[in-house]
Amino acid sequence: MKTVKIAIMGFGNIGVGTYQGLETNHDAIAEKTGIDLRVKRILEIDVDRPRPVNPDKSVYTQNVADIFGDPEIAVVVELLGGLEPATTFMIDAMKAGKHVVTANKAAIAANYEKLMDAAKENHVLFRFEASVGGGIPVLTAIQNALLANRFEEVLGILNGTTNFILTQMTEGGRPYAEVLKEAQEKGFAEADPTADVEGYDVANKLSILISLCFGKRVKVEDIPTVGITGVTAAEIEDAKKNGEVIKLIASAHLKDGAVECSVGPQRVPLSHPLAGVSNEFNALYLKGNIVGETMFYGKGAGPLPTGSAILGDVIDIARHIEGLR
Ligand code: HSE
Repeated sequence: MKTVKIAIMGFGNIGVGTYQGLETNHDAIAEKTGIDLRVKRILEIDVDRPRPVNPDKSVYTQNVADIFGDPEIAVVVELLGGLEPATTFMIDAMKAGKHVVTANKAAIAANYEKLMDAAKENHVLFRFEASVGGGIPVLTAIQNALLANRFEEVLGILNGTTNFILTQMTEGGRPYAEVLKEAQEKGFAEADPTADVEGYDVANKLSILISLCFGKRVKVEDIPTVGITGVTAAEIEDAKKNGEVIKLIASAHLKDGAVECSVGPQRVPLSHPLAGVSNEFNALYLKGNIVGETMFYGKGAGPLPTGSAILGDVIDIARHIEGLR
């Protein structure tokens, strides 16, 4: 059995979900892969906050040098969120020879080339499956099984918080503020939920998908973006009467070699597959020139589904570095 030690930076909802996922399935992962995966360090200031997991207090540190300077730590999982210090920490981790896994869509979308270049220059792996679609393994599919394709269209529901809110408003007639609060309690929402409800979170995810699918960079600020704060109960009712539901839709396609893209609420006919995607579930429709139409579906937010994608990346890296794949 090979032991691979990792560090988690940031022990909020997603850090806890990742730790909990590993605690639950450590032995199953070891059985399947031959790797004994251990969390050696957690970078976190708030060590006393009640959490559903209880790492030994000695694991916590407030000093990144304890992580970057520890030769035993092979993989750093960045779950601080936000642009800084997350981006600098990821690059510093790479410079220290650590492989990096993150769920931080804002940092990736804003600093895509910088992070990719840092990984290349420092000969380390950089993985970010959890940044788009939570637990749905869509980035891995785009970069592996679907690699032979030229992508023609990307269409999806890519934010669990807003889909949860719209579903509950539509199906339960519940008020916006009450449902947003529940989405926050369930760990779906960003630390500042403005990013969710104003569509910026989806724009970050769409920017990443455009980079991977079309090989073109579209900055988040260049994606026309509308959130759900302007969607009224009356509009939802009106859509219902017409056999439609309102969904926050991300879309991108190529037109004459240029990317056309947008994020915004759209009325989707009930007969459309995206209409049935409810609550925190996400779905991504991809059209490739060889494969044709594909659709990915699963939980797009929440500590455990997101933790599942993070652990998948960590395990994949661990297998690479141990020469087990
Ligand atoms: N706040 C995000 C969402 C988390 O609700 O989808 C997952 O990226």
